[in-house]
Amino acid sequence: MRGTICANILTLTTQFKRLHLPQLTPILHRHHHTITTKIARPKSTAVPLMAPATTTSTTMETRILKVKVDDSNIQVLGHWKEESAEHRDGSKTKTSNLNSWEVPTTSENEEILSPIREAAHHLRTTDIPVAFPTETVYGLGADATRSAAVKGIYAAKGRPSDNPLIVHVCDLSMLRSFISPSFSSAGDEEDPIPAIYHPLISRFWPGPLTILLPNPSPSLLAPEVTAGLPTFGCRMPASALARSLIKLANAPLAAPSANASTKPSPTAAQHVLDDLRGRIALILDGGSCSVGVESTVVDGLCSPPVVLRPGGVSLEEIRECKGWEGVEKAYRDQAEVGGKTAPRAPGMKYKHYSPKARVVLYEAEGGRREVPRADVRGAVEAAGEEEGKGNVKSVAIIRTGRWPVAGGLRSQGLDDVAAKDSGDVAERFAVREGQWLDEDGTTVLARLLEINLGNDVKGVAHGLFAALRELDRRGADVIFVEGVSDGDDIAAAVMNRLRKAASDIRI
Ligand code: TXA
Ligand code: MG
Repeated sequence: MRGTICANILTLTTQFKRLHLPQLTPILHRHHHTITTKIARPKSTAVPLMAPATTTSTTMETRILKVKVDDSNIQVLGHWKEESAEHRDGSKTKTSNLNSWEVPTTSENEEILSPIREAAHHLRTTDIPVAFPTETVYGLGADATRSAAVKGIYAAKGRPSDNPLIVHVCDLSMLRSFISPSFSSAGDEEDPIPAIYHPLISRFWPGPLTILLPNPSPSLLAPEVTAGLPTFGCRMPASALARSLIKLANAPLAAPSANASTKPSPTAAQHVLDDLRGRIALILDGGSCSVGVESTVVDGLCSPPVVLRPGGVSLEEIRECKGWEGVEKAYRDQAEVGGKTAPRAPGMKYKHYSPKARVVLYEAEGGRREVPRADVRGAVEAAGEEEGKGNVKSVAIIRTGRWPVAGGLRSQGLDDVAAKDSGDVAERFAVREGQWLDEDGTTVLARLLEINLGNDVKGVAHGLFAALRELDRRGADVIFVEGVSDGDDIAAAVMNRLRKAASDIRI
């Protein structure tokens, strides 16, 4: 990669040796970030592999605590402390505005704050994680400084501790205090947050952007957070509710998405309940997540800086920031791996973001104006063979702009059905249900479900995971998805998640 040298590649190599990891392949050597994403699996820190959420006997009562906030009363949750952040040369930086997030100790709006206080108390006093909303997806949070609490996340999710977790902070003073415990914002010490990140922090924080920082040694972070890596991912969520929870918990929160391992990320409290009922005690319900896909993960510790995961902040926005003009993509989508024209064999994938139904994705560049009928027939026949003939199969369509109603399949009785039990989901998209008919309109070939996410890509991101979950709930056997044009905007995140969810990618 044009002489890319990373300052910490040596550290990393040493780290890998220490952990007795397999020999790195040449392709992984090209870039340490690829190494980071591919080989973040040190055995030494792994807790025993957890059984999937559905096969465990662990049960406890799971309560949803509704936080009654909306745009009109959001200021009740807290505010940024006003500080004059002048440097010795008289300059001011906007990032210092994010120095201190304050939550009122008592408030006439205790009714709104008390569920957050209860959840924070739970985080401080138990090792059971709490699910909470962020602007991207719901997270499953635990005190990032306590090993026992972080292990609780893996136990609840049913995921092995081989993947580093993102650390969520409420403000910059919290971040600085654990990367450099002696740092004082009043003094003229150098900011412990590397300068490369200042333009990003000032533009995108609080928000859906995760940055990689060197993990100090010794570190206050529990080793389970970083999975043995010399860096840790950190973000300050845009959600005031999330920031107030972190503030009241008085600790940075390590939090992966609050889904059961392999499932689509949760964007409503109900999704968390569906996956983790009986495995956690509390879910803070702050309504549906505005962004709907996870944060963008970037690494600015090497040159050129890279995007490790596309997400809520787009590549084109990052590129506009000083020092990030040459940012490169360090993730590979399945479609690029096999070449855009190579369809992927079904079943040949590590499951991620996957509903129970099989997902068949059509890349936008194929320019299909409707779902190919032969593909739907094939899928219905295959589903019939798997489960025994006789019962009517359920076919679902998710469309995003070009495809007509029902993806162009001949249908009857296609009526709106409420997206009940899914909280705010019903407000975002209509779910329609009817029958798929053969060409003469005489025979019912399958039950038909369809969701139109619309042609605004932000709307698609917002509703995507909820749509996959809704179709699962309604018993879809196979979901045909109309892909969106993969640009440098949030469409990159949408397609990245869809390609991971799909067992078939077609053009
Ligand atoms: O929007 C989000 O980021 C959500 C919400 C809850 O904040 N969280 C989330 O966490 O998506 P999770 O665990 O599902 O994904 C964390 C991602 C993974 O891709 C992981 O590999 C990457 O961040 N990551 C975290 N720390 C890293 C590190 N030190 N080096 C490389 N990648 C890291
Ligand atoms: Mg996740």
